[in-house]
Amino acid sequence: MHMDKDKVLVVAVAPLLLCMSGWVGLHPASYLAGWWPAHDAILERLISQPGMATPSDVLSKYAPHTAVKLTHILPSGVWSLCGALQLIPRLRTAAPRLHRVSGQVMSLCSCLIVVGYALMEVRGLVAAPLPAAAVQTGADGVRGGADNDANPHHPALRLLSAWFLLTAGAALVQARRGNYRAHRRWALRHIASGAWVILQRLFVLGIAAWASAAGVAFSEARRRELFFAAASAAVVTSVATAELYLWLAAERSSPMAAAATPPRHPSRGKTSTKTD
Ligand code: HEM
Repeated sequence: MHMDKDKVLVVAVAPLLLCMSGWVGLHPASYLAGWWPAHDAILERLISQPGMATPSDVLSKYAPHTAVKLTHILPSGVWSLCGALQLIPRLRTAAPRLHRVSGQVMSLCSCLIVVGYALMEVRGLVAAPLPAAAVQTGADGVRGGADNDANPHHPALRLLSAWFLLTAGAALVQARRGNYRAHRRWALRHIASGAWVILQRLFVLGIAAWASAAGVAFSEARRRELFFAAASAAVVTSVATAELYLWLAAERSSPMAAAATPPRHPSRGKTSTKTD
């Protein structure tokens, strides 16, 4: 017995994407940092748990950075929501226009997310390992300087951003050409290139749950190490799982596999290569 491959995606990935849109829009909703004192107090309480495996300013540092909130954080919530919608097969067939519009919104959000990431780099908002993270805070709260320029995480994050954009572009181009098989492959790669963020949050929360149960507290330097270790593990897991899924799906629909499986409707056995 095997689950339909579309169902696997809906069951395994759509809930993660919905969780991420809740993370962005409802809680902890870091875009609200600096806009609502009661909410700032909640963020402070959450992040000051000794077992937290994140830099201590991971949610609050966006307070003076409206441009980052509007380009990276808020669009990431919309991206997640649209991603979840795109995966539901029934919605794709029942409301193709919604699928198209939601895909276009998602592509726009992908571009904004990368612009927001570039802004984060320029403003010194990407957490660096200590003590290199001892950056200056300017009068308007914008951080920068030599330490920021030497942030060792920038090259990998730039590469990831490039892959994120490339996969979004390829998915869009293939959809325009009506090549839906290729569109589907690139769209899945694109979702995987962003879904690592959700996995990273889950890994970090898992570490925090373990640490609080075991009574372990982390130093700021350790928190930063764990945060980026979780990010690296999440990127590898997400991208590799997507490739494995695509490889298995291709295997299953290969001519040899098709020959081994009798067609369900011999009289209507032909299927278009342009659809999935
Ligand atoms: C692949 C391209 C992406 C890159 C390179 C990237 C990079 C980053 C970086 C460096 C930070 C700051 C972390 C820190 O050092 O404290 C951040 C924050 C954030 N990112 Fe991204 N990101 C990307 C895509 C996404 C996606 C697809 C989402 C959502 C699905 C997302 C959601 C967020 C959120 C919500 C924050 C703010 C912190 C929080 O509230 O958890 N990002 N991102």
